[in-house]
Amino acid sequence: MSESTIRWESDADGVVTLTLDDPSSSANTMNDAYVASMGETIDRLEAESESVRGVVLTSAKNTFFAGGNLGSLIQATPEKTDEVLAQVTLVKSQLRRLETLGVPVASAINGAALGGGLEIALAAHHRVVLDDPKVKLGFPEVTLGLLPGGGGVVRSVRLLGLTTALLELLLQGQQIRPGKALELGLVHDTAADRDELLAKARAWVLANETAQQPWDAKGYKVPGGAPSSPSLASTLPAFPANLTKQLKGAPYPAPYAILSAAVESLQVDVDTAFTVEGRYFVDLVVGQVSTNMIQALWFDLNRINGGSSRPDGVDAYAARKVGVLGAGMMGAGIAHAFATVGVDVVLKDVSTEAAEKGKAHVADLVGKQVSRGRMSQEKADAVLARIRPTGDAADLAGCDVIVEAVFEDTALKHRVLSEAEVHALPDALLASNTSTLPITGLAEGVSRPADVVGMHFFSPVDKMPLVELIVGRDTSDAALARAYDVVRQIGKTPIVVQDSRGFFTSRVFGTLVLEGAALLAEGLAPMSVERAALQAGFPAGPLTLLDEVTLTLPLKIRDEAARAGATDDHPGVAVLRALVEAGRTGKSAGKGFFDWEPEKRVWPGLTGLFPSSDAVPFRDAQERLLFAMAVETARCVEERVLNSVEDANIGSIMGIGFPPLYGGVLQYVDQYRGAAEPGVASFVARADELADAYGERFRPPAILLERAVPAGSLRAALAGASS
Ligand code: NAI
Repeated sequence: MSESTIRWESDADGVVTLTLDDPSSSANTMNDAYVASMGETIDRLEAESESVRGVVLTSAKNTFFAGGNLGSLIQATPEKTDEVLAQVTLVKSQLRRLETLGVPVASAINGAALGGGLEIALAAHHRVVLDDPKVKLGFPEVTLGLLPGGGGVVRSVRLLGLTTALLELLLQGQQIRPGKALELGLVHDTAADRDELLAKARAWVLANETAQQPWDAKGYKVPGGAPSSPSLASTLPAFPANLTKQLKGAPYPAPYAILSAAVESLQVDVDTAFTVEGRYFVDLVVGQVSTNMIQALWFDLNRINGGSSRPDGVDAYAARKVGVLGAGMMGAGIAHAFATVGVDVVLKDVSTEAAEKGKAHVADLVGKQVSRGRMSQEKADAVLARIRPTGDAADLAGCDVIVEAVFEDTALKHRVLSEAEVHALPDALLASNTSTLPITGLAEGVSRPADVVGMHFFSPVDKMPLVELIVGRDTSDAALARAYDVVRQIGKTPIVVQDSRGFFTSRVFGTLVLEGAALLAEGLAPMSVERAALQAGFPAGPLTLLDEVTLTLPLKIRDEAARAGATDDHPGVAVLRALVEAGRTGKSAGKGFFDWEPEKRVWPGLTGLFPSSDAVPFRDAQERLLFAMAVETARCVEERVLNSVEDANIGSIMGIGFPPLYGGVLQYVDQYRGAAEPGVASFVARADELADAYGERFRPPAILLERAVPAGSLRAALAGASS
């Protein structure tokens, strides 16, 4: 038997304090030990009910309770449906027994209570929460393709009402702060510190003889009414349509399951409601989408924290003083990222005045964080104080890391890097934020090419979590490991790729947007091109994306590749050239595929250039976008631009908008369901079909043919190939 994860302490007044404290981990999760401990605890509470006056539920960890056990959820397959259902039913019945003990139960929420954590807290009759900006409450399940299956849907809709629970908690997975939780009625009280927290919870218990949940009281009316009430009955039919609109038609099952579970749970008694919720939960858990999303967004992140793409045998590194060259949009964002985690920054531009502009941009960013309650004024002042704007390279003295973000020009980058090299510490890391220029070529401009690495941030830097690290011909393992650690230091996610044209992200992103342009040329109406992408799960359509990055960027990458000898017959290129020739370079010019002023709308001239026809079936259009990216990624693996399947998956989701529901671009290949069994063989067969119909760019590369393996094993097969 494992040790109990719940400590029991009773006092002279008969108040039992239950402290969640899993001895095997730094956080409490819903693992087997928790279920066993909770079972024993409830048995004991029931057995000793005569002497128990009430219960206070709290935690000894930094967080209250971290939530579900993703390690076991990800292994749930359709064959395990009954097993999963039994487990979730058990968890719920325990919480149900707790709330119907007949004695008052108060949660003292001392830290974040997310997912399963909030579900436990909701089973108490009274909730006090520590009023600290680090404490967050919420149901992030939807972001992993799941719903809260431990009673979270049932209790939150009964407590807050259908509309509030759906919009504020369930459908988008927001994490809310204590003040907001109080305002919504999710908690009853807040406390300034831990002592007050426990004292308030205990005082409430002592002030109440018995307690029951509001929904167990006779005549309880759900706030906002039942689904059959006139107010809801008139608005309810619009919910699914609104959801489809919000999801832009993307096939994410969880929001629809949440909506159905919430509505149906209100039409039955509480115990039946738990059964309804459980059924929807299990459907999602055993489905492929949640597996994909958990794997990509959770486990691969853990892997990145463990750092498997980081070279072994190099000591952990932390930047102390960073020199950022170029105080434009990217440079300012990079300075903000470092200063926020307490690193001193020298922000260098052509003049102090130019550098000051970059610092002013950082001031705007932290100002917004303060006004949204995400940063204290004190911290914002400290962040700004750490940034020293300058026009003088001599001020780079003492920097151990240089990040270059000047204009995209090789000669200029050579100049600023070699100048920085003279003034910074003799072994400083020399990183470039270039999005297109080969790192090996940039390293030729300095005397220490082994210390040069690509550190490709995405725009806007403060929002985008990914950083693509690029290894040039001469980049040393030590430099790569330092760069990796520095990216982790600012809380971002690194992937590692080898130097090549467009690296991984720009190259594969290029295939997406060019495919969108090709579809337009073949007669798909502009809004159909966009809809094909949105309905496949992309966050934006390719024509919108092209306008946002400006049409000249992909052309520039193609031109450079052509100069290096690549042949280029992609039909999308001609479309981009036609628009650029018409002066329509994108959003920054106010006009591209769309007119952006006074509001976004398709440029009427497009139909004249590319008359619509119905030559491309809609399903083909959708799959061409997904396949274009997947085939190009496979080529990147074949060419060893990418060494890790995980880097491809996480990079495609976080950097270039590949739909998370597929779990990443190579997971899509691995799970593709065509006419045949899901797996690489089906993908290969369909890619061949697309190649025959639309062009050789879809022809699957040899690496996929060699490894036309059963679903789920591409990861292992490719790992074998690159070792
Ligand atoms: P930007 O035009 O906003 O900023 C460039 C800055 O460099 C300007 O402030 C300019 O005064 C400064 N500069 C020029 N010569 C200099 C010198 N000799 N010494 C110091 N500073 C000098 O450009 P942006 O968008 O910030 O891009 C910078 C780099 O980041 C480029 O290499 C670009 O390819 C790359 N990048 C851009 C992304 C984007 O979305 N804009 C995304 C990822 C990378």
